[in-house]
Amino acid sequence: MTDPESAGPLAASTQDPSRVPPIDDWYRLLDGRVAVVTGGGAGIGGAISRLFGAHGALVEVVDSDPDVATLVVEDIEAAGGVARAHVVDVRSDAEVEDLRGEVLGEHGRIDVLVNNVGDHRPLVRFHDSSPESWSAMYAANLEHLFRVTRAFLQPMIDSGGGSIVNVHSVEGMRGFPGEPVYAAMKAGAAHFTSSLAVG
Ligand SMILES: NC(=O)c1ccc[n+]([C@@H]2O[C@H](COP(=O)([O-])OP(=O)(O)OC[C@H]3O[C@@H](n4cnc5c(N)ncnc54)[C@H](O)[C@@H]3O)[C@@H](O)[C@H]2O)c1
Repeated sequence: MTDPESAGPLAASTQDPSRVPPIDDWYRLLDGRVAVVTGGGAGIGGAISRLFGAHGALVEVVDSDPDVATLVVEDIEAAGGVARAHVVDVRSDAEVEDLRGEVLGEHGRIDVLVNNVGDHRPLVRFHDSSPESWSAMYAANLEHLFRVTRAFLQPMIDSGGGSIVNVHSVEGMRGFPGEPVYAAMKAGAAHFTSSLAVG
């Protein structure tokens, strides 16, 4: 069994909750880490990118919107951080493959992957939905988790480990009549995450 002391402050805290380290100790774990954030140009992903950049991560901002991706990179650099923008649609196999090449070509590794892209819009009542709207929900909220995770999992394993964070939603845990297909995709994202984690 791993010695909790040698495994670092976070592992030690799981043995003794009274030893949960202060938040700055957690943030220090980001220093020098290569972090890919999908949908990293705006909203929650933009906040994640900026936070990671502020704590020393080398942030690979991935977004289909070049303007927001560039803006986040400029903000991170203005604050003294390091970041690059990648204009990528995570629904595209070819674009994700190119992204993989760019990240590994620059750093030779990846430490953190945040699969953040997702959208409940357009909000379609189920009785008005169609195979096309189901496919769009799947592509926007679940399929790309498989694609981007597969692209970066082996390099993570090869370099000794890493962290994958999949952003899901409370709507994947409770009944969400507004868009049940979105809710189902988010529940799928959560179950993919826990299943991959114990694999
Ligand atoms: N906002 C909320 O209230 C809320 C609540 C629960 C969960 N979430 C989840 O959090 C995540 C982020 O939500 P948000 O509200 O910050 O989103 P947002 O719409 O504000 O930002 C999403 C970002 O992803 C980019 N993007 C969209 N599709 C893309 C694609 N195919 N490829 C690459 N980039 C793409 C957009 O350009 C944008 O910059 C989503 O997974 C969402 O389902 C959001």
